[in-house]
Amino acid sequence: MMDADEYRRMAANSDRHWWYRSTRALLRQLIEPQLRLQPDDVFLDAAGGTGATGAWLHEHAPTVLADYEAVALQIARDAAPGYRPVQADLNHLPFAEGSFSLVLCVTALYHRLNPDPAAVVRDFARIVRPGGLVCLMEPANKRLWRSHDEITHAARRFSLAELRATADGAGLEIIRATYAYSFLTPPAFIMGWLDRRGKGGGSDVDRNQSGLGGILGVLATLERRLLRHFNMPFGLSAIVIGRKPL
Ligand SMILES: C[S@@+](CC[C@H](N)C(=O)[O-])C[C@H]1O[C@@H](n2cnc3c(N)ncnc32)[C@H](O)[C@@H]1O
Repeated sequence: MMDADEYRRMAANSDRHWWYRSTRALLRQLIEPQLRLQPDDVFLDAAGGTGATGAWLHEHAPTVLADYEAVALQIARDAAPGYRPVQADLNHLPFAEGSFSLVLCVTALYHRLNPDPAAVVRDFARIVRPGGLVCLMEPANKRLWRSHDEITHAARRFSLAELRATADGAGLEIIRATYAYSFLTPPAFIMGWLDRRGKGGGSDVDRNQSGLGGILGVLATLERRLLRHFNMPFGLSAIVIGRKPL
């Protein structure tokens, strides 16, 4: 569970916070070309919280938002009426095999609520239909652990190899595996260093919404251009997209 205040900050800031705007654009860029849309498609935003990174999905297909937190579901219901919110635990998802053509899961497997991320991803592979997609995006780089991770109740950060192996172990064909937010790595090291000396800390969500007056948003746009052609070899997020074999 996250603090209720953290949800409120997420909901209040997600439209204008540079990270959410950039992440929505990044996920669209990576996922939309891979969609093979069919009229009966249903998507799942797994642990979708308030819908800050996944609400765009329902432009393409009806989208179930599954999250543990009633307060997040309520905020999503008000802010993004296209969702079908369901209160559910990722570790015991109440969906039949092949129910969805896409499962998106953004920054949830890292959480202390999820002791066995590999089992959760195997379940994603079960509930996605053959030919469907599973997209995972998680905090990366274990050396960057800091107080934001404590506030968001993190148990782990992933390496890209770990996240990729998790999807591979669930029987998914990996179609994309890359880091993202490479340009945040040096400042995150500095903030971690300040944290450990008791000089930093707190949540990132309400910090620096504009992204240094727009600079971080511009860097994210440039990185997305590179990601059209290359994978990033490092970064603050790890992203894996897998397809369930036909
Ligand atoms: C950092 S938020 C991310 C929310 C959303 N995916 C986004 O990108 O904005 C993490 C969310 O995962 C949810 N979550 C984590 N573990 C969960 C579990 N086992 N079952 C249901 N929800 C879970 C939390 O309730 C929280 O809303």
